[in-house]
Amino acid sequence: MSFEKTIACIGAGYVGGPTMAVIAYKCPQYKVIVVDIDEERIKRWNSDNLPVYEPGLDEIVKEVRGKNLFFTTDLESAIKEAGIIFISVNTPTKEYGVGKGMASDLRYLEKSARDIMKYANGDKIIVEKSTVPVRAAEAINKVLSTSEKYHYEVISNPEFLAEGTAINDLLTPNRVLIGSRETPEGIKAREEIVKIYENWVPKEKIITSNVWSSELSKLAANAFLAQRISSINSLAPLCEIAGADIEEVSKNIGLDSRIGNKFLKASIGFGGSCFKKDILNLVYICKTYGLEETADYWMKVIEINEYQKTRFVYNMIKEMSNTLADKKIAVFGFAFKANTNDTRESAAITVVKKLLEEKAIVSIVDPKALENAKKDLKDVKGIVFYMEDPYEAVKDADAIAIMTEWEIFKNLDYDKIYKMMRKPAFIFDGRNILDHNSLFRMGFNVYPIGKRPLTHFERV
Ligand code: NAD
Ligand code: UGA
Repeated sequence: MSFEKTIACIGAGYVGGPTMAVIAYKCPQYKVIVVDIDEERIKRWNSDNLPVYEPGLDEIVKEVRGKNLFFTTDLESAIKEAGIIFISVNTPTKEYGVGKGMASDLRYLEKSARDIMKYANGDKIIVEKSTVPVRAAEAINKVLSTSEKYHYEVISNPEFLAEGTAINDLLTPNRVLIGSRETPEGIKAREEIVKIYENWVPKEKIITSNVWSSELSKLAANAFLAQRISSINSLAPLCEIAGADIEEVSKNIGLDSRIGNKFLKASIGFGGSCFKKDILNLVYICKTYGLEETADYWMKVIEINEYQKTRFVYNMIKEMSNTLADKKIAVFGFAFKANTNDTRESAAITVVKKLLEEKAIVSIVDPKALENAKKDLKDVKGIVFYMEDPYEAVKDADAIAIMTEWEIFKNLDYDKIYKMMRKPAFIFDGRNILDHNSLFRMGFNVYPIGKRPLTHFERV
């Protein structure tokens, strides 16, 4: 079969895989090739056990894989065949050298640019899909402009999907952002990318801008989203002491249309691979430009998040009489949010590590993330069980800690669970997903986030 054009994507992760699957699904006239150096990952993309869990993803992949969507490790052929190459490799926080612990590590991005140059057989449009520091396109250009043979035009097209809702976000995005140089070549290349999205995204939602605005808008969007969570979480301890209810506060302020009601859910703290790394990156860029006050402002968003995670687990320790040794804790959820198998930066990692330091025995229950949980905790000392059945995990447990808002945890028979646990029985609801009054009536000591605890002890 002949295709109108071929698109390649370097990086078959949480972004590259779903994004390209949706492009292939919506554009049957294009051939889409997704490449990764990780053979195991590619094997799984070509199997029935995809490496990424996302509602709706399996169905789309099944529909287009082998027709116009291909997963491969053959980088050279993909680069040769495609006129448009998306780069969707990881851009983690740098763990060495200058900028260690803050700056973005762009080595995978630069490696991709060099690979493109090595194998290219003609002019190419390079699309930055990975999240990058502002002016990263300049860094890629520095490499690509050394080519004497071919012209490479770098376009910024950041991705705004959230895990757990990725397919929906890709099918009906709030906006698609496409940044380019404002030169004739830049604008021509940008139009090529607009044409892809026009296959299913309404024209008014496809926004074009210069590259630097596009790059910075991605970091800014994540920083603003994370800031809302830290803002509401910063008020949670005050609510717990003052007798206010954080959910009522969220609702009341969210009714102001200028504030809006989204991203105001108090929690154990945000996780995920991007909020922390992107804000650290923003902070680092500000510091590099001498903008210390701006850097400090955004750093506070991360500090409040760390405080929220440790506050949660220290509260558990304190309320369970400062002794967790040999006590059994059932941890409900390990994914950083519901409907994903991703555990990167999950608050559950911090909480479980601290529980194990206290010598507690931990049983982790998660419907999709146990495989990743095992990897995250492989070097940690202590007794950990991994289970799919929550009822198994609560047998003789002293406490339950809710880490992820999976639907299944909302609908369990907590009366039965109470009877199976050791007494006193504790529930620490890090997501405020349970009916706290009814749990209290069953006999549990209940500790929500941002609400007074409901306990059967006399508090002195
Ligand atoms: P990921 O770690 O899941 O996937 C990245 C993939 O790139 C890995 O499979 C890795 O093997 C591959 N890779 C690295 N170097 C390579 C190379 N030289 N050649 C071929 N493959 C290579 O990461 P992700 O979550 O998909 O994120 C990718 C980028 O998208 C990051 O910059 C991230 O900030 C951004 N982003 C992520 C999300 C999200 O929800 N995860 C959302 C928006 C943007
Ligand atoms: C986030 C952004 O929402 C995406 O737009 C962006 O593309 C992506 O980061 C990225 O660049 O990687 P994601 O991290 O997948 O997406 O998921 P979110 O829904 O943003 O949740 C992040 C964390 O915040 C989760 O741990 C979630 O439980 C927590 N959260 C979210 C809260 O604690 N309260 C809320 O009100 C919302």
